[in-house]
Amino acid sequence: MSVRTLRINGIDVAVESGTSILAAAKQAGITIPTLCHLDGVSDVGACRLCLVEIQGSNKLLPACVTEVAEGMDIQTETPKLQEYRRMTVELLFSEGNHVCAVCVANGNCELQDMAIAVGMDHTRFPYRFPDRDLDVSHPQFGIDHNRCIFCTRCMRVCDEIEGAHVWDVAQRGAAVRMITGLNQPWGEVEACTSCGKCVEACPTGAIFRQGSTVAEMQRDRSTLEFLVTAREKKEWTR
Ligand code: SF4
Ligand code: SF4
Ligand code: FES
Repeated sequence: MSVRTLRINGIDVAVESGTSILAAAKQAGITIPTLCHLDGVSDVGACRLCLVEIQGSNKLLPACVTEVAEGMDIQTETPKLQEYRRMTVELLFSEGNHVCAVCVANGNCELQDMAIAVGMDHTRFPYRFPDRDLDVSHPQFGIDHNRCIFCTRCMRVCDEIEGAHVWDVAQRGAAVRMITGLNQPWGEVEACTSCGKCVEACPTGAIFRQGSTVAEMQRDRSTLEFLVTAREKKEWTR
């Protein structure tokens, strides 16, 4: 095991090589804002909330997919980063249809929490009001595409933990969309085991349990944590 020594917000940190800046910061007790990161599944660097400044580089780099290097001097909370994070959250709100007052996840939503954390009370960008639909063909769950922020957490848990690979990303740019199966209604996808991992993983009210009404949807992320730990420690009984 080789060790890398670096500084994060002026704190000296020593971590194993290959560690992400996000994980190194966590070890040093520093929390970097994230939305697409989910402990236990691979990182994709999709949301750009975790951008950090590294001395000597004029680029902002995502902490979740950037590995530490010897001697790095990292800042995670500069005014520039705070401004970028706020703008990113504003863009997420203007890009979809996030009407918190009528959302199942109101009060239990990571996007809403992030807006509060970055001090966002309005968006400076025009709302796009995209015309998106809802799929409630699954007997237990549903997806409201209006509230999807394309973090792909659902896709990664379903693929990497459940092994079912029901979710995929289709199209690009403004037309991007999470699909189930080969763009079939979710209820028709035979690969879905109805395990509910995607429901627990979704940070917003996009994927929900049927029958949940406004502000009723709570998530138990510890279920996912348990599954990941059990898999890593080979605690399965069969
Ligand atoms: S319920 Fe389980 S198997 Fe079905 S889509 Fe969600 S994570 Fe995949
Ligand atoms: S449905 Fe939820 S978990 Fe999946 S990409 Fe959209 S916001 Fe992320
Ligand atoms: S948490 Fe790093 S880009 Fe989303």
